[in-house]
Amino acid sequence: GKDGYRHYMEKELHEHPLVIGQTLQRMIDPATRKVTLPDLPFDLATVPRAVITACGSAFYAGMVGRYWLEEIARLPVDIDVASEMRYRNPPLTPGSLGLLISQSGETADTLAALRSLRADAIHILSVLNVEHSTMARESDVILGTVAGPEISVASTKAFTAQLTILACLTIATARARGKLDPLGEEELVAALMDLPSRAAEVFNQGAAIRQMASIVAEARDVLYLGRGSMFPVAMEGALKLKEISYIHAEAYAAGEMKHGPISLIDRTVPIVASVPSTPLFDKTLSNLQEAKARGGRLLVFTDTEGAERVSAIAEQVVVLPRVHDFVAPILQTIPVQMLAYEVAVLKGTDVDQPRNLAKSVTVE
Ligand code: M6R
Repeated sequence: GKDGYRHYMEKELHEHPLVIGQTLQRMIDPATRKVTLPDLPFDLATVPRAVITACGSAFYAGMVGRYWLEEIARLPVDIDVASEMRYRNPPLTPGSLGLLISQSGETADTLAALRSLRADAIHILSVLNVEHSTMARESDVILGTVAGPEISVASTKAFTAQLTILACLTIATARARGKLDPLGEEELVAALMDLPSRAAEVFNQGAAIRQMASIVAEARDVLYLGRGSMFPVAMEGALKLKEISYIHAEAYAAGEMKHGPISLIDRTVPIVASVPSTPLFDKTLSNLQEAKARGGRLLVFTDTEGAERVSAIAEQVVVLPRVHDFVAPILQTIPVQMLAYEVAVLKGTDVDQPRNLAKSVTVE
């Protein structure tokens, strides 16, 4: 049941801290505090490249994974949505790591992409929530997101669990490739272990998020902005808003705004920005100043450090706990999903079963 929550989505949102913690328990040895993977039928130290593919939210998780694997493990990554990947016939390097991501393990396009990668001699590592799914059976190895059943059509906790797995995989890959020394690993593991408590604190911002929702609910179009690993977070926020509130939303890499979408900006198009105080903070801040100068209304998710610097230009700020840059995309996902939820509640839509959508898309 819904345990007293209004919808399954609300219940599942509140499970973020638990699910991140359970997933970490499976991936991190409590004695050594090191990431431990199951035995792999290939060597992370020598895979020439990674190719990531998935659909919808799982694809956005893959995009965050790309930023991490490239930056931290120095592994070259190709990524595309599965519906494109399966027909693109790209020139792949045999022996590469194929990273497939799916909550259900039954998504038709992702499964077809898995089969075509396999046929090209790519090792298949799937990040799955349903561990007895079709994709599980056809993979070389699976990493299970310990999210439990996800009922709401809009994915929430499965997404942060996918990010948690990808973060751990990045650490293990970086170590195997000699890009992360024991101290570096300790620092990143500590950042992950800190997450469940910080994630729980996000729910203290419920009132501020509901106030933001009342602005967004009046809009016809909403622009989501983020840079680096916050760009996929912006995409996740925009998708969730579209799915359950039926408000049109678009996500842009903040630096791309002046190459087109800036012409959309006026009082009627709120801008939702995910801007924690990472090294990209100043760059995004200057994009927000440009938007403000054109009459844009800025609704900002930042942290305690960023809040002071953005408050002068923002119409509303939601202040989140400060976490390590590495795990910021995981933490920042929670409030953008909560925002979409509160907007849908205000609009009175069928939150758990939005029109035209199915929980798992098993036909092409
Ligand atoms: O089961 P999967 O993770 O493969 O599903 C992929 C997408 O269909 C899914 O993430 C979809 O985009 C969600 N409704 C997003 O909330």
